[in-house]
Amino acid sequence: MPDVDGQKASKDYGIGIPQETPGFHVKGSGSYDWGMKHRLSRIFNARSGRVVMLAFDHGYIMGPTSGLERVDLNIVPLIPYADVLMCTRGILRSVIPPQCAKPVALRTSAGATILTDLSKELIGVDVEDALRLNAMAQAVMAYIGATHEHETLDVLTTTIDAGMKYGLPTLAVTAVGKEMARDARYLGMSCRVCAELGAQFVKTYYCEPDFEQVTAACPVPIVIAGGKKIPEPDALSLAYKAIDQGAAGVDMGRNIFAADDPVAMIQAVRAVVHEGETPQRALELYETLKNEKRETVTV
Ligand code: R5P
Repeated sequence: MPDVDGQKASKDYGIGIPQETPGFHVKGSGSYDWGMKHRLSRIFNARSGRVVMLAFDHGYIMGPTSGLERVDLNIVPLIPYADVLMCTRGILRSVIPPQCAKPVALRTSAGATILTDLSKELIGVDVEDALRLNAMAQAVMAYIGATHEHETLDVLTTTIDAGMKYGLPTLAVTAVGKEMARDARYLGMSCRVCAELGAQFVKTYYCEPDFEQVTAACPVPIVIAGGKKIPEPDALSLAYKAIDQGAAGVDMGRNIFAADDPVAMIQAVRAVVHEGETPQRALELYETLKNEKRETVTV
C-alpha cells in the first residue's frame, strides 16, 4: 500500500522534455471529443498555448473584498484585456455584459465562507445552469489534506462526470489549508491528484524551489493564482517564473484588480504570458501604460 512518504523517492521528472499531445495545443487533452476540445481552445490560445484568466470570484467566500467592491466599476473595464473571466453565476448574471462574449470559467463549488471552514464545499451550480450561461469550464475547489478533503474530491469528481456528458471542461482549484505548506511536494501532490481524477486543467500557486517539478508531473495544464496582493514588479516576476517553469497561464485576481492601475497591469501580465516578455520589460510597459492618457475601452 502506498504510504505518505512515497514521494520522497520521486526524482525523475524529465524536466525539459515536454509531454507530447499530438495534434492539439492543450497538454493532455488530445483524446477528447470535439466539443471539449473546442471549449478548451476558447480558453487556451492556439498560438501561444496560454491563457490570461481574470479571477474575481472572491466574493463568494469573502464578500466585497478590496478591489471588488463594485464589480461593474472595478472589473468591467478590464474585460477587454482578459482571455477568460472566472466568476460566480450571481456576478455574471447581475453585472457582466453578455455582449462581451468572453469565455467564462464558472465557479460552481460553494457552501462555506471565510467565517467558517472553507473546505466544507458542495456543488453550488447545476451543470445545466452552467451550460445555460454558456460556461467554457466549471471551476471547483479541491482541498487536499483538509478536514473535508473527501467531500471536495466528491464535488470534483461529480463535476467532472457532469462535464464529460456535455464536453464541458473542469478546472480544479487547489486550495491550501492553513496548516499546509505551499511547497512543491504538497502542491505537486494536489495538482497530480486533481489531474488523475480527470480535471482538464488545474489552478495552483507558484512555489520555490522546484515549481518545474509541479508542472512536469501534472499531465494537464496548470494556471497559477496570484495570491495576496504584492508589489507590481513582484507580481510580474511571479508570473514570469511560473510560465518559465511550465505553467500554461495565470488565473490572477488581486494582483490585477487591486493593482495601482489595473488596466495597465492586466496588459503587462498579458505581455509576460503571451509574448514571453521579461518582468523588466513588462514593468516598463506597465509604467508606460499607467502614464498614458487613456480612453475607456468598452466591451
Ligand atoms: C479564491 O477565492 C479564488 O479561487 C480566486 O479566484 C483565486 O484565489 C485567484 O485569485 P488571486 O489571484 O487573487 O489569488
